[in-house]
Amino acid sequence: MDFKIVSSTIGKQRSACLVVGVHESGKLTASAKHLDKTSRNHISKILKQGDIKGKPAETLLLHAIPNSDADRVLLVGCGEEKALNDQQFHKLATATARALDKIGVKECVNYLGELKVSGRDLPWKIRQMVEATCDALYRFEAMKSKKNQRPASNLKKVSFNIPGTANRTHCRNAAKTGLAIANGMTVTKDLGNLPGNVCTPTYLANKAKAIGKGNSKLRISVLDEKQMTALKMGSFLSVTRGSRQPAKLITLNYSGGKKNEKPVVLVGKGVTFDSGGVSIKPSPAMDEMKYDMCGAASVLGVIATVSELNLPLNVVGVVPACENMPDGDASKPGDVVTSMSGQTIEVLNTDAEGRLILCDALTYSERFKPAIVIDIATLTGACVMALGKHATGVLGNDDDLVDDLLTAGKKSNDRGWPLPLWDEYDAQLKSNFADMANIGGREGGTITAACFLARFTKDYTWAHLDIAGTAWHSGARKGGTGRPVPLLTQYLLDRCKP
Ligand code: BES
Ligand code: MN
Ligand code: ZN
Repeated sequence: MDFKIVSSTIGKQRSACLVVGVHESGKLTASAKHLDKTSRNHISKILKQGDIKGKPAETLLLHAIPNSDADRVLLVGCGEEKALNDQQFHKLATATARALDKIGVKECVNYLGELKVSGRDLPWKIRQMVEATCDALYRFEAMKSKKNQRPASNLKKVSFNIPGTANRTHCRNAAKTGLAIANGMTVTKDLGNLPGNVCTPTYLANKAKAIGKGNSKLRISVLDEKQMTALKMGSFLSVTRGSRQPAKLITLNYSGGKKNEKPVVLVGKGVTFDSGGVSIKPSPAMDEMKYDMCGAASVLGVIATVSELNLPLNVVGVVPACENMPDGDASKPGDVVTSMSGQTIEVLNTDAEGRLILCDALTYSERFKPAIVIDIATLTGACVMALGKHATGVLGNDDDLVDDLLTAGKKSNDRGWPLPLWDEYDAQLKSNFADMANIGGREGGTITAACFLARFTKDYTWAHLDIAGTAWHSGARKGGTGRPVPLLTQYLLDRCKP
């Protein structure tokens, strides 16, 4: 996919399709107005006929525009004539891309950068449009026997028109950043969409190696169960006992920063299928538990994005990957395991397995002498109940880090929302038989899960992203979302600024 920045007068623009906005009031955006004038009111006539009302995300395709060198014009409804918010703009960008995809044009020139979005500049709008376009054109066909049931989109080039040339470099960079984020999201979506019998821990390890290939700044290493036993990762290993697939601990070490600069460590939950283990899950929608490695997938996606952008930072990705299966040798409710930190855990519910693999990965992360550690996990169904599918749950032991992540989420339109991490919740993890239990009862499930992790992150600045709700779409558009790649990339971009 090719994204370009151009500045030209709309009347003289050659293209297979021009994209311009119309408001609900019937008021045209500047470029639409210009086009209306040169075409002797062609557009206002159509508006009068009522074929398009200007409602948000409505589209209408016009042919044979008088006095225009363009083959077509796509009118996009932009709602009332006032500044849009981030989500409204994103929705328009998505509707535009879907319409272009359906029309089948190879190329277009898009003028929607002239819409007003509260508090956002032109580069922001361009980056959003790039991300929304790639997201709308995404296909997942790897598992279909007859390829091309939905052939790859014809759309290969989008030119964004900007007024004047002053902003050109910023806009070009924004498009570049947007494309790198979109490419990272594609990595994340693909991995999430692959079934559990294909996307195993070994597959994730090989994918990490593939991302590292040919990049001298990126080193990948993979530990096997024997090496994890030597490291005394008793908690992680207790989860994989019931599986025939060997567990892997994958490390992706990206060194784009100064040699002595402390890295940001991203730890991603990589449960490639979560049956619940002996505390087995109910059958309905159990297939969706193939997505339980989306934390891991987002770490791989972010590392891919960071490498593409060649960011001047040190970033380490740590991915504990395994399956959670029932078996004669699987962990049982009541088992007590010893984590790498030495703390003992009573496994009251084998379905609370994410925290059991993450705690050892978090202890392991100490060896990278991190500036900051962020873990990303589809950790609790309770998070979906609390925040729905719109916000990622954000918790941590440092308010500044939590604030920075929330800010990055707003900027990148991949939002999080905070939850408290108080001692009162931690008390729910009390066990009669070990240092702690792995569950804290029905109340505040997202928070008690984070409290569990907090017991393993006392030596560094840490935050936890619960992406159980945001990592995938259910229903008709069932599949990975690519979140929170934009949030995390934005956080890292913000860290690059002096
Ligand atoms: N992977 C699940 C969490 C999950 C549930 C993610 C639904 C996405 C959608 C996790 O391993 C799990 O099973 N959590 C339990 C914890 C409980 C046993 C304390 C849950 O949320 O029910
Ligand atoms: Mn589970
Ligand atoms: Zn799980």
